[in-house]
Amino acid sequence: MAKITYRSPSGTDTVVEVAAPGTVMRGAKLNNIDGIEAQCGGSAQCGTCHVYIDEANTRPLPPMHESEDDVLYGTASPRRPTSRLSCQLPITDDLDGLLVHLPEKQS
Ligand code: FES
Repeated sequence: MAKITYRSPSGTDTVVEVAAPGTVMRGAKLNNIDGIEAQCGGSAQCGTCHVYIDEANTRPLPPMHESEDDVLYGTASPRRPTSRLSCQLPITDDLDGLLVHLPEKQS
């Protein structure tokens, strides 16, 4: 279980408890958070679950696989150094308190 904060482009925070097994993407979908489309259902193919990890984050994140890296070059909002696919971020206790910023658009 981890408490995840999703910050909209306008700065509105939505905080939800997300259970494992699950992902940061799944937590957004289950809680009807606008700004995560996840068209491919979590298989790192669509890029519509793009998030920006907060720059102050110190929580350990899983390494980025090649497929995620490739998809992040084609996202609707610009890729930044903090970009990740939220479907590739499994929920662990270590993620408790994570803040992710939602991009302006996903498609
Ligand atoms: Fe499609 Fe994450 S849900 S890339």
